[in-house]
Amino acid sequence: MFVTKRVQSARILNQVTVFIRKIHSFDSKGKVLQVKINGEQLKFPYVWLRDNCQCDQCFHKSAKSRILDWSKFNINVKPKEVVETSDSMKVEWTDGHISQYGMNWLKYRNFSPEHQQQYKQAIFKPGKITWNGHQFEEICSRHDYNEVLHSDKALHDWLHKLAQYGVALIKNTPNSETAIDAVVDRVGFTKRTHYGIKFIVQNVENTSNVAYLSSNLQMHTDLPYYEYCPGTNLLHCLVQTKSTGGENLLSDCHYVAHYMKQNHPEEYRLLTEVEVEWSDIGVEHGNEFFKLHRGPVICINKLGEITRINFSIPQRGSHFPGQLEIVEPWYKAHGLFLELNHRCAAKFKTTDGDILTFDNIRLLHGRNAYEDNNNNVRKLIGAYMDWDEIYSRLRCLKVKLEKLDGIY
Ligand code: OGA
Ligand code: ZN
Ligand code: ZN
Repeated sequence: MFVTKRVQSARILNQVTVFIRKIHSFDSKGKVLQVKINGEQLKFPYVWLRDNCQCDQCFHKSAKSRILDWSKFNINVKPKEVVETSDSMKVEWTDGHISQYGMNWLKYRNFSPEHQQQYKQAIFKPGKITWNGHQFEEICSRHDYNEVLHSDKALHDWLHKLAQYGVALIKNTPNSETAIDAVVDRVGFTKRTHYGIKFIVQNVENTSNVAYLSSNLQMHTDLPYYEYCPGTNLLHCLVQTKSTGGENLLSDCHYVAHYMKQNHPEEYRLLTEVEVEWSDIGVEHGNEFFKLHRGPVICINKLGEITRINFSIPQRGSHFPGQLEIVEPWYKAHGLFLELNHRCAAKFKTTDGDILTFDNIRLLHGRNAYEDNNNNVRKLIGAYMDWDEIYSRLRCLKVKLEKLDGIY
């Protein structure tokens, strides 16, 4: 039925001369359309093309969403005729429906594994680059507060580095409790928790959280007891202690986990498989809370990629949901994980005006003990932001800065 016919003819359409050729190339099973774009043969399944028809009946342009009625959808749909111009492709289906696709739009949806990989890195999420503590000075990028506020490129650069390395520093932040708000507004909004929209990290008596002490804060992730755990941490250093101590320890758990997988596979397995209970119980701003979440220390997906790290000695509950026999081996694996994180950690002391931003579900962070005195009270303003908001802002910025056509 589909004869390979290359008819090159010119006709006037909207005052523009376009070349039309009929195509033609269907795979042996008759389910995939092949289109040559910039010399490359791209393949698109019929069912996918029909599902992604861009006409007004099938796709709502301003909502950028599919509106075709799936109850009337025919999975075995087949094209009757395909017409290609230099920048678009028109498909007439056997039921008479007509679809049109931009060539750039099709290019972005190339099914080849190389393209899928490229798209994953460029648009979906930037690839992560792991690091060891001694590389910290090279990998921890510095960004200027005012530039992040006023330049889209600076905003993009900060978020991109944060996504790649899991840590980045904003410098020259004004000395105000609200200065961090403008940074958050550039991205989206904070993740509110029972500690507030923002929180103050300062030494307080009768604290609701051990972070609000001046003693050593062992390496941890914040709020592992949340099922929807905050993705990133922003800590604005208003006043750093002039005493010794007060430094942060930071380690890349993806680096450590990779090392463990290679060198201590059994301990790695235990940390990825055994669920423990994370908890936070108390009262903050007059509101009672009793938070529990169960999950392993290293959460991985079916590809073996790490999706989240949970780790906190204070916020690990005393209820162990696993079997008796795994308790001791799990504790050994847990101890090894912390030891390796210490070995791979960077020590870094923020100064007034720094906002230390880091991936809360990838890095462990800690703080060395310090001593306040009457003339010098250490004070940080903290806020959380979720990765959903950050990746979303990154994609919007990329489309704008690189003027990507056909991406959506
Ligand atoms: C915290 C925390 C770090 C610091 O509040 O959870 O990690 O430098 N604080 O005080
Ligand atoms: Zn349609
Ligand atoms: Zn913390």
